[in-house]
Amino acid sequence: MTGLVLAIETSCDETAAAVVDGRRVLSSIVASQAELHSVYGGVVPEVAARHHLTTVNAVVDEALREARVSLDDIARIAVTRRPGLIGALLVGVATAKALAYATGKDLVMVDHLHGHIAAVWLAPLSLDAPFVALTASGGHTRIDLVEDYAAPQLLGQTLDDAAGEAIDKGARLLGIPYPGGPGLEQLAREGDSSAFDFPVGLQGRGPGLDFSYAGVKTALLYVVRDLGEEGTAARRADLAASYQEAIVRPLADRLLRAAEIHGMPAVSIGGGVAANGRLRQLVEEGAAARGLMVAIPERSLCTDNAAMIGAAAAFTPAIPWPQYVGEDAIATAPPGGIAA
Ligand code: KG4
Ligand code: ZN
Repeated sequence: MTGLVLAIETSCDETAAAVVDGRRVLSSIVASQAELHSVYGGVVPEVAARHHLTTVNAVVDEALREARVSLDDIARIAVTRRPGLIGALLVGVATAKALAYATGKDLVMVDHLHGHIAAVWLAPLSLDAPFVALTASGGHTRIDLVEDYAAPQLLGQTLDDAAGEAIDKGARLLGIPYPGGPGLEQLAREGDSSAFDFPVGLQGRGPGLDFSYAGVKTALLYVVRDLGEEGTAARRADLAASYQEAIVRPLADRLLRAAEIHGMPAVSIGGGVAANGRLRQLVEEGAAARGLMVAIPERSLCTDNAAMIGAAAAFTPAIPWPQYVGEDAIATAPPGGIAA
């Protein structure tokens, strides 16, 4: 299929729209609500949905304007259908359905995680299958075998918390506002990652590709409690560096191990946690040492955005006009994790 795709993403707390032309990103607009939610220490679903509603049309207009195209030039409209906050998803889905219906276009309903994986298909990375993909975000942590972009296969996933969730909760214990990832990374740069020995989930439990992050979070809680307020303040940077290392090292290790087990020539990372400099470094170095190709999207294509939804749309069947009118958003992931 050819032609311009207008993509819309509203699954969590970023209102995003993009125009993509095959692998080329003509525009990618992201209006983040993070500041709005930081006073609550996390995303408030109802606040997110209402804010998407006030912002989405302007973000779509901006994406078209920056790409220097009009709605008439668009061949198909793509939107994140699942998984995510239901009220937030509904705003994107209703907007996309209305735009597509009114202009007689087909609609592509995309899985958010499929988007994170497909981000490396976009130029300038332009990674072709086969490869092994790590996706680590606020809600998901998984490794997929991508022999075909249309059908990623789950190899391993977190058995409890997502890596981003552990990062955000740990950052909060260290007094870093939501979302904690960027602040934790900044603080960790001044610290010693070997100062504290945090447990690495499922380490030494055979060749598995699963993750566990509940233990490391609790371990940080106990250390902070034992150190007390003053002690914690004095060791904040060392705590941040050690905690970050305990979270990102298993991500890199399991990804590289998955490539080895499945004889894959390349690895990729995606999702908000893939914006982390230490994870990027570990994956780059590990891949180089093993002679693997590595695809790491620029940071703005790791955190939530609509360009990646436009990429996944290239591998998702379009629903012809007007058959999508009765289609809905879905909060949950399907069995197996990705609806491709
Ligand atoms: O993919 P994403 O933007 O949204 C979800 O789909 O969840 O991921 C958000 C997660 C948050 O937990 C955030 O703290 C984390 O990605 N994150 C980071 C960094 N930037 C964002 N984690 C570590 N280091 C970063 N620089
Ligand atoms: Zn995401």
